[in-house]
Amino acid sequence: MTGTTQIIRGARAAGIVVPAFNIPYLPMLRPVVQAVHDEDSFALVQVARLEWEKFSSGSLEAVAEEFHRYDDPAHVRLHLDHVPVIDEDHREVDYLPILRRALTAGYQSVMVDGSRLALEQNIRATRAATELAHAAGIPCEAELGAVLGHEEGPLPPYEELFASGRGFTDPEEAARFVRESGCDWLSVAIGNIHGAVSKAARDQKKVEARLHLEHLARLAEVTGIPLVLHGGSGIRPEDLRRSFARGIAKLNVGTEIRQAYEAALRETGSEEKGREAVYHRTRGLLSETYRISGSRAKLP
Ligand code: 13P
Repeated sequence: MTGTTQIIRGARAAGIVVPAFNIPYLPMLRPVVQAVHDEDSFALVQVARLEWEKFSSGSLEAVAEEFHRYDDPAHVRLHLDHVPVIDEDHREVDYLPILRRALTAGYQSVMVDGSRLALEQNIRATRAATELAHAAGIPCEAELGAVLGHEEGPLPPYEELFASGRGFTDPEEAARFVRESGCDWLSVAIGNIHGAVSKAARDQKKVEARLHLEHLARLAEVTGIPLVLHGGSGIRPEDLRRSFARGIAKLNVGTEIRQAYEAALRETGSEEKGREAVYHRTRGLLSETYRISGSRAKLP
């Protein structure tokens, strides 16, 4: 079986994106896998710590168990998203034991998020996570820069944020970060923001984010590794597709499919209708928004 490391590297070389779909509710997993299979694309299925703490996916082990029930290695792999060192509520997290649990549960790649730390500390925390992942033969994603949106409270006005470039990943820091941390994939901030997760704001429609594509190209050049775009829901589609040729090899998508599930459940009370909504939304994203139907054949 080709490893996730080679697949994402191949995606980067071919300018094809691998979406990574978040699972805040366990019933969402089956229709995501089915949609990826039916489009003959390739994707990751992922869960972040905040999704078992603030939503109802239960635990990383519960998601792994559900994944192994529908596993389809030609089309999907299992990834552990955001294990923060400092979380969205500004609390310190004992992150290494969570990563160890993921290795035991069979995750095929992991992420450590030290982006709320100063550069040196982020490098140190990421290096520890990377060494752990590499010893188990799997890749490790890290984050540098501020992808806002998960924290409580309102965001600064989006246009102001974009125009100022505040929080964007700094190219010089990124080159050093990759060299010294040894991470395999880097999540960058280039105008992207996360959908809200606080109870008060999680139903809101996201603002349509834009991407600073020249900044992205510069980050791709200086780091030389596959880049990851978080906050993949609701980004201007042309910007999104252009980013795939400029270094974005993995795209994280949460809010869009979560809100489809929640809306269907609210309207019909039926989990099955919720699954159907996720299935159709995921197929639409793969075929129309990302335009990667049949992408599996173009990847290693
Ligand atoms: P969205 O919820 O904005 O799609 O972001 C998902 C994400 O980046 C998870 O890591």
